[in-house]
This record gives sequence, C-alpha cells and structure tokens, in this order.
Amino acid sequence: MDSEMSHQDGNYNESPAKSEVIGNGTVTTMANSRLKLRVHPNKDHKPEGYDDLDLDFNPSIFSSLERYLPSNMLGIPRDDKAKFMREILLKYLPSGERHRTQKHQEYREKIKSNYQPLHRELYALNPTTFFLPTFLKAISDNTEQSFRSIISEPSPGIYVFPMLQPDFCELLLSEIENFEKWVAEAKFRIMRPNRMNRYGAVLDDFGLEPMLDRLMDDFVRPLSRVFFPEVGGSSLDSHHGFVVEYGEDKDLDLGFHVDDSEVTLNVCLGKEFSGGELFFRGSRCERHVNTGTQSEQEAFDYSHVPGRAVLHRGRHRHGARATTSGHRINLLMWCRSSVFREMKLYQKDFSDWCGECNRMKKERQRSTCAATRLELIAREGESTA
Ligand SMILES: [Fe+2]
Ligand SMILES: [Zn+2]
Repeated sequence: MDSEMSHQDGNYNESPAKSEVIGNGTVTTMANSRLKLRVHPNKDHKPEGYDDLDLDFNPSIFSSLERYLPSNMLGIPRDDKAKFMREILLKYLPSGERHRTQKHQEYREKIKSNYQPLHRELYALNPTTFFLPTFLKAISDNTEQSFRSIISEPSPGIYVFPMLQPDFCELLLSEIENFEKWVAEAKFRIMRPNRMNRYGAVLDDFGLEPMLDRLMDDFVRPLSRVFFPEVGGSSLDSHHGFVVEYGEDKDLDLGFHVDDSEVTLNVCLGKEFSGGELFFRGSRCERHVNTGTQSEQEAFDYSHVPGRAVLHRGRHRHGARATTSGHRINLLMWCRSSVFREMKLYQKDFSDWCGECNRMKKERQRSTCAATRLELIAREGESTA
C-alpha cells in the first residue's frame, strides 16, 4: 500500500556511514549522506530550538528528530544538523509532491478555479468554533495528564475523545454536500479518497489542505507525541485528509486493512445511523500484517458517536462493519512521519508496537531462560556426581 514510499537508494542499509570529522569537530555531511539515524532516540540529549531558522519544515520536527542523530553529530553546529535533517525529510516529504502526477496537480487546480466554497470560514482553522472547550483546554495544557483527562483508552493503543463542536460538524457536512452537488452538476470526475471507498472526497483536493495542516500540527501531533512516540508520533509531517460516506446508497462496510499512515485520526461527523462499528485486531508491522489475532485483548469493537474522535496507529488492523441504516460520514486524517519511514528501513524488530514481534521476542526470551535453566541443572548434576 505504501510502496511509493520505498527508498530511492536500495543500498542505504548496507552503506557505511560517510562523514568526515574535521579538526574543529565539524561533521560535514555529503549531499547524499549515508549516515544513519539512531533506532532509539538519545533520551538524555536536550535538542536545540529551531524556531528562529528559516526552514521549509516545522521547527518542532527538527527538535524531535535531533534525538535520533548519530551521537557524533549531536555537538556540531545547529545549521549543519538542520541541513542533515532536512536532507532526510526531503527524501520523504515531497514524495507526495514528487509522485503526485502532473494530472493530479491539474485536477486540484481545476477544482480550485471552478468550485465555489459554501462556508469560507471552514477553510482556515478556528479553534474556538471547531473544537469543544474541553478538547481545547486539554491541548493547550499540553501534558499527558491533561490529555488523559478527556481521553479514554478502551483498548491498548486506541484513544477516544470528544472533539468537534456539533455546529462545525453541520457546517462541514453541508460543505461536503455542496461539493458533491457541484461534482454531479459539473459532471466532474472526482478522485475518491482511496481504493477502498467508492464514495467520499479528498479534503486536501478542494482547498482544505491548509486547515488540515494546522489540525495536524497543532492538535494531532501533540497527542501523538505522547501516545505514539514509537511510530514517529512527534514527527508527523504530512497527511492525507478525506471524508468517507456510508449508508444504503453509499459504501456499506469496509474490509479489514491497515492505513497508509503512522497515526490515523477518525472523527464521526454524523448524521443519524446505526451499525458501522469499527473493529480492531491489534497492531502489526509490515512483515506480520497477516498473522492471527492473539488474544481477547486485541479484539475491540468501537461504535461511532458524532463529534467524537478515535486516534490509532495506521498499522492497527481494522475494518468497519456495515452501516445498517441511515447515513454515516467520517472525517479521516492519515498522518505520516518521514522520520519514522526512514528509520523503519533499518529496523527489524518492532516489538514495542507489533503484537507479533512482541510475541516472538517473549518467546525468544523464554527459550533462552529455559536453556539457561537446563544448563544450570546439568552443571549442578556434574558437580554433585
Ligand atoms: Fe482505515
Ligand atoms: Zn512485527
């Protein structure tokens, strides 16, 4: 599903680190540096601030990425660190742009110049009219404790919280309806959000990209930094935002799958419906995506409530049951991290979030323990013989 993200340079893993330490301790990184990031962050290192630099990525991404730099780079001038990190980010971030065909560019342009938005106030994020006060307060306090005060975790790795104002949901629904009406009237051939949904629209395509950028930067990333650090939650830097529609004349259900995202935000906008539950079956790395569900603990069903959000790893396997009556519309944002995608390339064990990697690791530990015990018993036998 995310094959387009595969690395441009197949030798990256095997290549030796190519850096030079010059007399004054400056590490020069080559234009296509072969330096690897650390798999585990250096927790003791205090990253620098990058707010004052003129950078083409969010400064907070640089700060969170700095902990992953090889240790010999931590002390080098900030500009050099920024340059190196930028190279890594560039490899992934523009992938959307780079792979976005000329056709898709034209497609967006065509929408932009022909579609008249109905509610202009939706196109720039306004926290107080978009979000519930409880959600806003939790985010502005920006601590795990404040987040936990509004968020429940009904199953490991699945976070649920009231998020959107009912009026905002109404407005967004009416904008989407207006957009669909325009599509039908103009006989415009619309690109659907993904291969799984026949209905729905990509919000990024009809002008809502800046609004969603802010939603990710200021609201989803702070939460993900706390709840999903192991999958790049603090360095989310691009997204795919869309709505999906379910109901009698729309899609009914959605098969079992993983998202092309590190973290997915799924918010129900309405309207009235029954059914449509999300079912979850545990997180898996790419290698283990088709392994069995291990225990009762991994199976979890969630019923949507308008205005309420679910935040989960993209790799948390899930699907949606049939919406049996009414009409259900959900807003989805697939958030991605270039840093995580880079590091995934040279990481083999994902036991901190993949249920199967974790099971295998425990199994290895058990057999090592058992072998040691046998060895000890054997030695004891020898010494008493
Ligand atoms: Fe999904
Ligand atoms: Zn795994």
